[in-house]
Amino acid sequence: MARFVASLLALPLLASAISVDSIVARAETQHNAQTFNVNEFIPSKSYKPAQSGIPYPLKDESIKPWVDLNEPSSTAHGLVQASCTPLSANNPQQWWYANITHNGQSSFMSSKNDYTVVRNVVTDFGADNTGATDASKAIQNAINAGPSGGSARGSGNYGTTGQPAIVYIPPGTYLMSGSLQLYVGTVLVGDPINPPTLKASSNFPNDHIIYAKDPNFGGTINFYIGIKNLVIDSTAVNANTSLGLLDWTVSQATQLANVVFNMPDYSTGHVGVTSQYDSNSNVILNDLTFNGGAYGLKLSGQQWILKNIKTNGTTTGISAGGFSITCLACSFANGATGIDGTVVSGSLTVIDSTGSSLGNFVTGKSSTSGANSIVLENVVNEGTTVSIDGSATVTGNVADTWVYGSLYSSGSSSGGHVSQDVSTSRAASLLTDSKYYTTSAPPSFQEYSVDQVINVKSVSGLPVNGDGITDDSANINAILKQYAGCKVIYFPAGTYILNDTVTIPAGSRIYGDAYATAFSAVGENFYNPAAPTTMIQVGNPGDTGVAQIVDIIFTVADVLQGCKLVEVNIAGQNPGDVGIWNSHFRIGGAAGSKVETNCGGGPDQCKAAWGLIHLTNTSSAYIENMWGWTADHDLDGNNGQTISTGRGILVEATKGTWLVGTAMEHHTLYQYNYNNAQNVFSAFQQSETPYWQGPGNVATPNPWADSLISSDPDFSNCASGDATCTMAWFERISGSSDLFLYNGMVWAFFNNGGGCNGDCQENAVDISNSKSLYIYGQQVKSVTNVFVEGSNAIATESSNSGGWGGVVAAYLHDS
Ligand SMILES: *[C@@H]1O[C@H](CO)[C@@H](O)[C@H](O)[C@H]1NC(C)=O
Ligand SMILES: *[C@@H]1O[C@H](CO)[C@@H](O)[C@H](O)[C@H]1NC(C)=O
Ligand SMILES: *[C@@H]1O[C@H](CO)[C@@H](O)[C@H](O)[C@H]1NC(C)=O
Ligand SMILES: *[C@@H]1O[C@H](CO)[C@@H](O)[C@H](O)[C@H]1NC(C)=O
Ligand SMILES: *[C@@H]1O[C@H](CO)[C@@H](O)[C@H](O)[C@H]1NC(C)=O
Repeated sequence: MARFVASLLALPLLASAISVDSIVARAETQHNAQTFNVNEFIPSKSYKPAQSGIPYPLKDESIKPWVDLNEPSSTAHGLVQASCTPLSANNPQQWWYANITHNGQSSFMSSKNDYTVVRNVVTDFGADNTGATDASKAIQNAINAGPSGGSARGSGNYGTTGQPAIVYIPPGTYLMSGSLQLYVGTVLVGDPINPPTLKASSNFPNDHIIYAKDPNFGGTINFYIGIKNLVIDSTAVNANTSLGLLDWTVSQATQLANVVFNMPDYSTGHVGVTSQYDSNSNVILNDLTFNGGAYGLKLSGQQWILKNIKTNGTTTGISAGGFSITCLACSFANGATGIDGTVVSGSLTVIDSTGSSLGNFVTGKSSTSGANSIVLENVVNEGTTVSIDGSATVTGNVADTWVYGSLYSSGSSSGGHVSQDVSTSRAASLLTDSKYYTTSAPPSFQEYSVDQVINVKSVSGLPVNGDGITDDSANINAILKQYAGCKVIYFPAGTYILNDTVTIPAGSRIYGDAYATAFSAVGENFYNPAAPTTMIQVGNPGDTGVAQIVDIIFTVADVLQGCKLVEVNIAGQNPGDVGIWNSHFRIGGAAGSKVETNCGGGPDQCKAAWGLIHLTNTSSAYIENMWGWTADHDLDGNNGQTISTGRGILVEATKGTWLVGTAMEHHTLYQYNYNNAQNVFSAFQQSETPYWQGPGNVATPNPWADSLISSDPDFSNCASGDATCTMAWFERISGSSDLFLYNGMVWAFFNNGGGCNGDCQENAVDISNSKSLYIYGQQVKSVTNVFVEGSNAIATESSNSGGWGGVVAAYLHDS
């Protein structure tokens, strides 16, 4: 406590504004002022994922992309390459998105012609953007609007995927005298050039300004919800009133990005973001600024990566109760605590982050097992950097890596609990100013004006439908070829059916309507598992240039065992030139695919895709916020979903790869495969196993055994009949070097479609012929062995118990 007071005294800002005693007192009493317990929504050992979906009775059953492809409404006849001026930023005053035509649709909704996906709260719903009168009702009307004359969004009639709504909020100040309630499929988006402010009235009546979780459904099936480019302001509300600015009880394939939370400095009652209404399974929250408040983020759930979080004048920056928390490129200034790590039961990792004028940068709990592990790497802080059980354990900067938890080194099957510095020799190709490269906010292409953007559905002579039934591949290819490098290409909401490869050339900048724009494969080009065809090919091998993809869903309309959904071949001049943001895979589980309706049998009858994404050996890409999901349940009804997708992500890239907030779930052979890969930074890799595997079921590599390629695991390590061994690897690492992998999670909640006694799966990570691997914060649940090298198990769950199962804070392999 002495250290804490001294550091607060050193603070000119605080010292002049508020007395130190009062800050300390507030910091100590604020838990009482809060109404919820951070541990409440951390699931127990016996947790089982939700298995039910949302009914979709108002679906147009006649739209069957897999049965009958329409002829295009007119044929392609290539454009004359005349007016293609290379893109150069002209920094407009207003975002192009506000002015471009929004002619997208919800492809499978029965009344889609009467339904508007993109709504403007001012021009369509009359919200007052001057701050003079209440705007909350108008914005809520914009959120609620269903098809004209039809049932409202949130009525539970459109499944999860049938009711996408992009609610555009123009610049201005919006007085909030009441709350906003979102539903699955809702995205609130402001103008990134001049973000709008939602400002709570001084007598704000409710406990949150925005409730993101669809109240009709559990937190773990709240997908496809987003908020970006906004300011939420509670400074008019008494600083002692208990108020959350946003509740974010949602799960994967959601986005909370580029939002500023303005609260009274050191308020005792205001919290930026909570997740207090149910269990939830998030991936990433990114590029958020918190000014003032009792807490920036006060969360409880399974796991998060928190990227580019800034707090200033916030008593506790982050309190995220859960199993695995990664803080990447965060900064905390002028507060009592940067990160409250005492509520992180498994693994807390803090990378490239700074603290200034804090009591403690990180607090933690003492442990001698895998529990409460902490890894800090490249942290700049004065004063107490880590306080364990209230006593300063690390002070000042951590120039390299500090590990508190189980440490294993090369080939040794005995680890031990340490509290010590280790060395991470970062690859130069991954760094900018000695930090891992990250983007400061997802691209919105705001530097280009509306005349520099084309709507792919408005190109004369090259009709593109996005209607969930007509093949669009030829004309999309023609448009991309014509306009790459010259225009940003906007794909309005809808399902774009592709019966052949679409090539995204160097120079492409692609922007979709988040969660509403999907590319969906069909047809015989995608039938052969021995010679898979790519649906979306990003560049040709050896290409260098820009290729950026924002807010797109990748899926299949049919059972396509020869479909590789995405292949990236291109490298950028600079990090981030090639990237994919807030773009997600969905195999089955949703309207518009035969995989949803025809996969209630065995996995061998439903080899729905060859694999999701391949970063080839000529690529260099940045990927942020990606959920690669083979459906284990139906989002739009309750069809059985026993789906076998061959592979998750295959990384063979060597020149620099950044994976920031990815999750891969339920793929058959592996979730992550690093094959001859080099120079990869991955922060946060969450996974679940395919639940149909295990005793009594098809032994992996079946049903893919007859078409394996050299990078596929063959499971020859498993004894015959060892059914918990022949289950998907979480991760295979072979022939690779300079991999920097932070916070992997392997959740095996059950096997054989039901239960398991004790461990549900034998192995998580397979390592062979590799060197310079730095694996931090690797966690498993109900998996016997964490790392396996040949027949050698390096670490077991049982000898590293913590978090949801076992945690290895650091495995340094030939480093
Ligand atoms: C793809 O769709 C186009 C247009 O409908 C059609 O001409 C072509 O034969 C289809 N190709 C395949 C492989 O299905
Ligand atoms: C965009 O639309 C708004 C009104 O909707 C108009 O005031 C503005 O001039 C338009 N901007 C451009 C660049 O067309
Ligand atoms: C908050 O409560 C404290 C303690 O009761 C009081 O001193 C302070 O004036 C209150 N602040 C506001 C803004 O009401
Ligand atoms: C924190 O906020 C204060 C007051 O607004 C400001 O002067 C200071 O520069 C900010 N510090 C950081 C690190 O942002
Ligand atoms: C890159 O991959 C291609 C395709 O698999 C292969 O032919 C080539 O030999 C590889 N190049 C290197 C340098 O490994």
